[in-house]
Amino acid sequence: VSSSSDTFELLDPQVLADPYAVYDALRDRSPVYEMPDIGFFVVTRYDGVLRALRDREAFAIDVGEPDLPGFLRTPEARLVLEERDIELASPLRTDPSRRDALRTLVDGSIADHERDAEPHVRAIVRDLLRGLDGRDTCDFVSELCGPLPMMVMADRLGLPLEDLPMLDHAAQAWVRLICYGMSPEHELEVATRRRELRHYLAEQLEERRRSPRGDLLSDLAGLAACGAPSDGDAWRLAIVEELLVGGNDATTDALASGMLLLLRDPRLLDQLRADASRIGAFVDETLRLESPVAGVLRRTTRDTELLGEKIPKDRLVHLRMAAANRDPRVFEDPHRLDLERPNAGAHLAFGGGSHRCVGESLARLQLRVLFEEVVARWRGFELAVPERELCYLPSFTQRGLRELPLRLRPRQSTDQG
Ligand code: HEM
Repeated sequence: VSSSSDTFELLDPQVLADPYAVYDALRDRSPVYEMPDIGFFVVTRYDGVLRALRDREAFAIDVGEPDLPGFLRTPEARLVLEERDIELASPLRTDPSRRDALRTLVDGSIADHERDAEPHVRAIVRDLLRGLDGRDTCDFVSELCGPLPMMVMADRLGLPLEDLPMLDHAAQAWVRLICYGMSPEHELEVATRRRELRHYLAEQLEERRRSPRGDLLSDLAGLAACGAPSDGDAWRLAIVEELLVGGNDATTDALASGMLLLLRDPRLLDQLRADASRIGAFVDETLRLESPVAGVLRRTTRDTELLGEKIPKDRLVHLRMAAANRDPRVFEDPHRLDLERPNAGAHLAFGGGSHRCVGESLARLQLRVLFEEVVARWRGFELAVPERELCYLPSFTQRGLRELPLRLRPRQSTDQG
């Protein structure tokens, strides 16, 4: 494969809003593409992305970022996060010596608490939908798919529901911490909220240690240290925080993208109504077509080679799952939503290899249940604005609709669940 001299404007806001034609061109002409502006290599072909995801020796997840307090420019804000007990990076991502053992334990705890999750998730979804009864319009993002993932995760962990507003507030700060360009006041606010979240979670963890309640948090409180240098709680807190907050935006974005796909095609809605067992395939096609985590970053640990291209040591490589998931070499007629696609589940929206998403089945459950409920209960809903007015977040990695205004006609169903 020889690299082309073409340039591809991946950071152009118009391309970010609709990147798929550029992905097609990149895959064919320069599947391992060095971005001139920021020097990343971007990988767009399915086989290349999968190979790098599976080769964590050559493509390390530790991208050598400075620790997060260093990310903040304001000394006061840094100070807030430099408390001794605040370990910001989750050991699931950063500590190769013990991460696999920890990951196995965390996977086991999550699986235990997923077995009875469905009725809880359904009750939360029905509550949110009921909150819209009698309304003519809503914003599907801020009123439904925004709140849902945090409510589900708080419920699974065993956190009190009355704490949700505070958790939500803090979670937004968590996410914003990884944005550059905040004002000093904003940085201080974000750091303070993040510290509050840590302190709150530390108290909850301590309480579970004193009197375990059989919830996921009690399991995590008892998690073995797996060779942690100290048996303090900082690393446990980093894991709890990542579980509580880390997957929320991706789940929200997937839910919103699924809804938009449904709004675009009334025949699809009819098909799902006629046979709700196809909602699983619909969820996979949503994740494939509109991968919420568009790509993940890796660092080369040595001079290496991918799809015939040489990549030097210590370079950042962006594995673009959103492009791989529309690779015609793997998915026939890749831009079409196809409920009969035989390999729909082969998409890479949850990553691959040893860092594959911990929350995959919980995310899938939320997607399936929300669409089951919407398909069964809602009648005659439609987009309240022309589709061209919808905006995506201006992000290189996150594929998320800012809002999705809907017009809701009166429901014909009398079933109130
Ligand atoms: C549709 C929703 C979701 C998508 C598309 C998604 C996507 C991903 C991807 C692509 C990765 C791999 C990152 C990498 O290789 O660098 C990942 C990892 C992870 N996800 Fe998710 N995620 C979702 C929901 C969730 C949820 C609900 C949770 C919380 C329970 C969660 C927790 C995590 C954690 C803790 C990791 C790190 C795993 C590790 O490094 O071992 N995710 N996710």
